[in-house]
Amino acid sequence: RKIYHYPSIGSTNDEAKKLAQNGAPHGTLVIAEEQTGGKGRLGRRWVSPPRKGIWLSIILRPSLEPYQAPRITMTCAVAAAKAIRKVTGIDCRIKWPNDLLVKGKKVAGILTEMSADMDSINFVVTGIGINVNNTNFPKEIIETATSLKLASGKNVDRLKILTEFLSQFEVVYRCLEDGEFGKVLEEWRQLSCNLGKRVRIIGRNYELEGLALDVDGNGALLVKTNEGTVERVLSGDVSLRE
Ligand code: BTN
Repeated sequence: RKIYHYPSIGSTNDEAKKLAQNGAPHGTLVIAEEQTGGKGRLGRRWVSPPRKGIWLSIILRPSLEPYQAPRITMTCAVAAAKAIRKVTGIDCRIKWPNDLLVKGKKVAGILTEMSADMDSINFVVTGIGINVNNTNFPKEIIETATSLKLASGKNVDRLKILTEFLSQFEVVYRCLEDGEFGKVLEEWRQLSCNLGKRVRIIGRNYELEGLALDVDGNGALLVKTNEGTVERVLSGDVSLRE
């Protein structure tokens, strides 16, 4: 499989989308030592200093319906959480919908972008940024961000995290393609830090508080509100507060 590796690039997601538009095959990996325009969800930026973390995107051509695309983010989250736990022993958890946390602070984020029409996916680009050896963050995120180094007190080998992530991703992704997404979902539940806890969800034009009961097979969070109803919240619409 083809790997594109850049010393410095704007955003690996943007590059991967360009390559995918030009026909790059399923499984193509785009990785950079540094991103000068790293993107997060909701138009935020993703700080991606040289050689401090893993900034990569994978081009996928899944046999899924567009509404099932959140499964890709869940797959990526499970693979990354397992890789981090295995290599470092750190208790890394998934925060719905797309973050990885260590001791309540964000250590990695996932940005999945898709090109699709009404009923079929053309391609998906799933991008992940993992803060590995960062030791300082801009002041806007200093309270909420962490790295594997800050969490473990020692330097972490980026290559070990990368290779473990890629091999986990292959295994978990195969489940998804083989009709065994139930297994991925179960692992996601085990690794989640939200389920069984109270959550506050801030949507574009609503706010909702309640108990996070479960996540469903298409990535929606099921929340039991104080009024006793169960709401199905799609990740596209919200940000989450504790
Ligand atoms: C988020 O937490 O909001 C998502 C962050 C995603 C960051 C990764 S780094 C590699 C890829 N390229 C980007 O521009 N963003 C993603």
